Amino acid sequence: MTPQESTADAAPLSMPLGAVVVLAAGQGTRMRSSTPKVLHELGGRSLLGHVLAAAAPLGAAATVVVVGAGREAVEQHLAAIAPDALPVLQAEQRGSGHAAAVALEAVPEVDGPVLLLNGDAPLLRTETVRTLVSEHQRAGNVLTVLTADVHDPTGLGRIVRDDAGGVRAIVEERDATDAQRQIREINAGVYVGDAAAMRRTLAQLGSDNDQGEQYVTDILALLVAEGAPVGGVRAGDPDDVLGCNDRRELAARRRTLNDRVLDALMVSGVTIVDPQTTWVDVTAEVAPDAVLQPGTQVQGATTIASGAVVGPDTTLLDCEVGEGASVVRSHCQLAVIGARATVGPFSYLRPGTELGAGGKIGAYVETKNAQIGEGSKVPHLSYVGDATIGRGANIGAATVFVNYDGVAKHQTTIGDEVRIGSDTMLVAPVTVGDGAYTAAGSVITVDVPPGAMAVARSPQRNVAGWVRRRRSGTPAARAAEAAEGRAEADGKGRTEAPAADTEQ
Ligand code: UD1
Ligand code: CA
Repeated sequence: MTPQESTADAAPLSMPLGAVVVLAAGQGTRMRSSTPKVLHELGGRSLLGHVLAAAAPLGAAATVVVVGAGREAVEQHLAAIAPDALPVLQAEQRGSGHAAAVALEAVPEVDGPVLLLNGDAPLLRTETVRTLVSEHQRAGNVLTVLTADVHDPTGLGRIVRDDAGGVRAIVEERDATDAQRQIREINAGVYVGDAAAMRRTLAQLGSDNDQGEQYVTDILALLVAEGAPVGGVRAGDPDDVLGCNDRRELAARRRTLNDRVLDALMVSGVTIVDPQTTWVDVTAEVAPDAVLQPGTQVQGATTIASGAVVGPDTTLLDCEVGEGASVVRSHCQLAVIGARATVGPFSYLRPGTELGAGGKIGAYVETKNAQIGEGSKVPHLSYVGDATIGRGANIGAATVFVNYDGVAKHQTTIGDEVRIGSDTMLVAPVTVGDGAYTAAGSVITVDVPPGAMAVARSPQRNVAGWVRRRRSGTPAARAAEAAEGRAEADGKGRTEAPAADTEQ
């Protein structure tokens, strides 16, 4: 169960929804962005993704998303996250009412109530929408609007009620009287209504308002004038209804969403040392008794098993962290970290990394497309790319899997219980057999049979006296002379340079 889900979501509706309509064609001018507003992200989903996820469990027969501004990008995104949803083009942004009318034209045969939502309310929960729809059905309304009592209603549509508490109208702030502006009950931009009644009133909308747009909110007053039963349902948690119109609101919604996710995780038994600096996407899963240290970001489809300790200062995107594993100050994407394995500090695990149980990827190690077997270790300063490493192997410090010849990538295979000496260059494609060793500093270009010791480096030659002759007067030469003087005093004599020294 992801943190945003709850068992209350499972209660059935008395009559299934005919359609869900999401209004997502608006420019989002206040975001001041080249990205369409509904594609801005928080907590692992786009604004649009959050709205669709809230509505999805209600199981509507059809889902329609009105697109316009940034249409191509929104349609592409929609195809990825909700391929069953139908994008409908509102060519000109003539207001939310016009958008709703365009959407309903695309689904002429709707059977059952229509749920209409703004595309920019990322904190909306299924539970809240379900309560709205159930209350709508219980009361026998033709239209029911979701509302909330908020501290600061600035910029939002106000809910006008009569003396008996009945909902009469929704008035946009810019069109409101001073008295109406005092109202703190606001329109959430979430409506459920009878399809025919919505179609009829949407067709009657004018644009006689401050923005010269057709407001979907005006259908409420039209239905009231017809004498049709309408209602308003207050959201249990006023945060649910908050929209997102500029970057400040985006940051605020992200913080609220994160607070909710962390809260649910802590209640379920996860230790979060510093909730202020820990960020967990709604799509991630963290098991009880895992520990998240400060500065940790758990993103995408990441799962963290019980007893694992992640952080401080770690980012995991689409990773799997096994039971009791530890990941310290590292950046990991599409990596699988086995049970009791350790990663970091300062490791970079790229896609396709699979670290076996009890294995280790240590400081300043980068891995990519690398299967590292149970108990195998890459402790320091190495690059492991396009490799398979057996179990119980040790890869010495500063080893490089030389996988790229400038044109293509090649594979390296390392057997079980292998000991790769420090600073080995493994020039792929190459295989090192089970139990083999490589000497430190070797450049391995041919396969090493099981149990062999591969030495691939030139023998060392010491050119005696070179510094005294070629670097005379330097601190190094003085140090060398002093050492030679001490050796002479000890009766060991001076080490003479070979006569034919041509070293530079
Ligand atoms: C809207 C409501 C307001 C409510 C608030 C809640 C109207 C007129 N007002 O105001 O009462 O309190 O939401 O957040 O609806 N859209 C289109 N096509 C258009 C215009 C808008 O698809 O031509 C979409 C937008 O993408 C957005 C939604 O309709 O998802 C609402 O539009 P927006 O401009 O954000 O309305 P608000 O001023 O926030
Ligand atoms: Ca809005």
